[in-house]
Amino acid sequence: MAIATMTTALPISFFPFLLLVPAIFFTICHANSNLLCVPSEREALLKFKNHLIDPSNRLSSWVEGGDCCKWIGVVCHNLTGHVHQLHLAAPLSPYEQSALGGKINPSLLELNHLSTLDLSNNNFSSIHIPKLFGLLESLTYLNLSRAQFQGAIPHNLGNLSKLQYLDLRGNDLISESLQWVSGLSSLQYLDLSYANLSKATDWLQVTFKHPSLLELHLSTCILEDDPHLISVNSSKSLAVLDLSWNSLSSVPKSIFSLHGLVSIDLRFSSLDGPIPDYFGNISFLEVLDLHQNSINSSIPNSVFCLNHLRFLHLSSNKIQQDISEILQSLSRCCLGSLESLNMADNQLSGHLTCQLGQFKNLSYLSLAQNNISGPIPSSIGELSSLKYFDVSENQLNGTFPLCFGQLESLETLDFGYNLLEGVVIETHFSELTRLTTLKASHNRLRFEPNSSWIPPFQCQIIELGHWHLGSKFPLWLKFQKELSSLDISHVGISYVMPTWFVNLPTQLEYLNLFYNQLTGGISYLNVTNSIDLSSNRFTCPVPRVLSTLRYLFLSNNSFSGSLSELICNPSLKEMVALYIDINLLIGEIPYCWNHWENLAYLNLGNNNLTGKIPPTLGYTNPCMLNLRNNSMFGELPSTLRNS
Ligand SMILES: *[C@@H]1O[C@H](CO)[C@@H](O)[C@H](O)[C@H]1NC(C)=O
Ligand SMILES: *[C@@H]1O[C@H](CO)[C@@H](O)[C@H](O)[C@H]1NC(C)=O
Ligand SMILES: *[C@@H]1O[C@H](CO)[C@@H](O)[C@H](O)[C@H]1NC(C)=O
Ligand SMILES: *[C@@H]1O[C@H](CO)[C@@H](O)[C@H](O)[C@H]1NC(C)=O
Ligand SMILES: *[C@@H]1O[C@H](CO)[C@@H](O)[C@H](O)[C@H]1NC(C)=O
Ligand SMILES: *[C@@H]1O[C@H](CO)[C@@H](O)[C@H](O)[C@H]1NC(C)=O
Ligand SMILES: *[C@@H]1O[C@H](CO)[C@@H](O)[C@H](O)[C@H]1NC(C)=O
Ligand SMILES: *[C@@H]1O[C@H](CO)[C@@H](O)[C@H](O)[C@H]1NC(C)=O
Ligand SMILES: *[C@@H]1O[C@H](CO)[C@@H](O)[C@H](O)[C@H]1NC(C)=O
Ligand SMILES: *[C@@H]1O[C@H](CO)[C@@H](O)[C@H](O)[C@H]1NC(C)=O
Ligand SMILES: *[C@@H]1O[C@H](CO)[C@@H](O)[C@H](O)[C@H]1NC(C)=O
Ligand SMILES: *[C@@H]1O[C@H](CO)[C@@H](O)[C@H](O)[C@H]1NC(C)=O
Repeated sequence: MAIATMTTALPISFFPFLLLVPAIFFTICHANSNLLCVPSEREALLKFKNHLIDPSNRLSSWVEGGDCCKWIGVVCHNLTGHVHQLHLAAPLSPYEQSALGGKINPSLLELNHLSTLDLSNNNFSSIHIPKLFGLLESLTYLNLSRAQFQGAIPHNLGNLSKLQYLDLRGNDLISESLQWVSGLSSLQYLDLSYANLSKATDWLQVTFKHPSLLELHLSTCILEDDPHLISVNSSKSLAVLDLSWNSLSSVPKSIFSLHGLVSIDLRFSSLDGPIPDYFGNISFLEVLDLHQNSINSSIPNSVFCLNHLRFLHLSSNKIQQDISEILQSLSRCCLGSLESLNMADNQLSGHLTCQLGQFKNLSYLSLAQNNISGPIPSSIGELSSLKYFDVSENQLNGTFPLCFGQLESLETLDFGYNLLEGVVIETHFSELTRLTTLKASHNRLRFEPNSSWIPPFQCQIIELGHWHLGSKFPLWLKFQKELSSLDISHVGISYVMPTWFVNLPTQLEYLNLFYNQLTGGISYLNVTNSIDLSSNRFTCPVPRVLSTLRYLFLSNNSFSGSLSELICNPSLKEMVALYIDINLLIGEIPYCWNHWENLAYLNLGNNNLTGKIPPTLGYTNPCMLNLRNNSMFGELPSTLRNS
């Protein structure tokens, strides 16, 4: 007898440290042996199928007379043959319309041993969650996430006393009370995100006091503050709490009686008061996410002194604090554990201190968009786990420390928009073999590597605007085979545009060569989204471009010839902005603007264009149109007069 063993791993949250996944091992009997399927259950499944709409024929194996234990999505008990699990989640493929729809037939109730029912990602758009689910007494796992159910959640789901996992995320549901949840006496995992719980004022009482719940997701539920301070049995075990995207205004104080919490997510929750100083009560906390609120007080020390803290995200608030104080507090408690610190977009001030080098497990650090000043400490070279480093948009000064070259895990390096100065050499990048993003524009740095230098990295994004890169086009860019975005604007190149660059076998999305002294002509640019060649000395006709291009800036050059090849190319439908002012264009403005429907900005001023303004220009309806200083005449066409 051929026996195949199937591991049914029920997917649980993205927190890898929480292994709520029950290790259920079911064995499906395959092949030659006698039919395992219980006939009455087969009939029930067929009836269930008949009321479903199955446009892609996913259930084609569900046929009269077959062994239902071998049908797709059906798992039977290996000895009794009873149907135990129905895995009918729709695969999430944008190309395949494989969602089931239609009605849920009560024949499902004949599956007395059904413990797992997964209908996630299907499309039951027109129906309520059927009450009959509340009668499937054996259920331990019910997943209806993103299945387009709507209306009130039937309270009799609370009768499912064996249910451990209930996932109703991402439907159009409403519940005016969560009292029914207290009936789910085995529940460990509850996700009601996106349900309208604005009237369910008991949400906190019910969920925080629930005796078995470990993981709770109530994101985007229109929850409001509950000022009641509830007391919770201290053996309570709620570990993961997600209340993101609600209207809470302050951290619910009752959270601090949940001593077992490991993860708190309060992103986008309208928090604006001070953060209460009770975090000492949740001493096992590993993850705290308060991103995008309006917290303006300083962060209480108890937050930084959580001994197990791995992930602290406080970005996009109004926190006014000295970064050195924060690093000091963090280093007292979670030097070894901290993996991710994001305090970007606040009002932090002060200097970075060399303590930074002591966070050995730090892999993600963002302090962007603050007012941090002073030098970048060279202890940063000791952060051997660092993958992501962003200190852009601060007031950091001094040099770019050489120790960055040691950070062999580094993938993203962003120190753009600071005041660093001095010389950068090849050694600054020596071990950066994994670097994919280098953003460093707007510093006063000089980098003129040896012409034989081959970078150790393959970057997708390189931004070195306002650096001094020497008068020749940087030859090392030749080796960047993955490049999709390049900004070397204002870097002092004064040379003919090299053909090797134009012919690079990579397709860029974004190219910025603004304000150099590049000369020569360009026949073609393989760039999909945005090109800025303004303020150079390019000559010859304007280059041909891809039909996907949206922004083309060629101002202040010596491009010559007529516009018709560019304008009358019918494939250019995406263009939003076209600037070719201050050039040497001649001839008439062509009459073929019908396909320029997305054009919002058009500047052809300061050329030598002649003739009349074409009426078809009115189709574009731009919010900016400049044709000044040309040799054109005639009236404004009526099509443009109401613009
Ligand atoms: C429910 O199904 C969705 C989509 O198939 C999955 O992402 C999610 O993890 C499942 N929920 C649980 C609790 O297993
Ligand atoms: C049936 O499955 C159980 C585990 O779920 C296993 O211990 C047992 O050996 C299996 N029996 C057969 C006949 O495969
Ligand atoms: C779900 O089905 C309805 C009715 O057939 C349809 O209008 C709707 O676009 C579908 N929704 C999705 C997300 O496929
Ligand atoms: C099931 O739930 C409903 C509504 O909550 C309740 O009225 C009913 O008594 C429950 N039935 C059983 C058998 O517990
Ligand atoms: C949520 O439900 C309440 C009724 O309970 C209703 O007044 C409100 O408009 C709903 N909000 C949304 C965003 O659907
Ligand atoms: C607290 O929980 C424990 C274990 O679950 C239980 O034995 C005890 O009765 C509970 N106490 C209260 C006051 O609910
Ligand atoms: C912190 O924990 C203590 C001891 O369990 C408890 O008495 C106190 O109420 C908790 N503080 C808050 C704000 O919940
Ligand atoms: C913080 O915000 C509150 C309310 O928005 C305001 O009353 C208070 O003055 C602010 N505090 C600081 C330090 O800006
Ligand atoms: C640092 O990270 C490693 C690997 O992720 C982990 O095993 C170790 O426990 C962490 N150290 C601390 C102090 O948490
Ligand atoms: C950095 O800026 C501070 C003022 O914020 C200044 O005192 C210091 O001299 C500057 N350091 C360097 C190396 O320019
Ligand atoms: C543009 O780049 C793509 C992707 O690298 C390449 O396949 C294509 O041949 C290039 N087109 C031209 C005309 O160079
Ligand atoms: C503009 O065009 C006219 C006629 O075509 C020509 O005489 C004149 O020299 C041109 N001016 C410039 C600046 O190119």
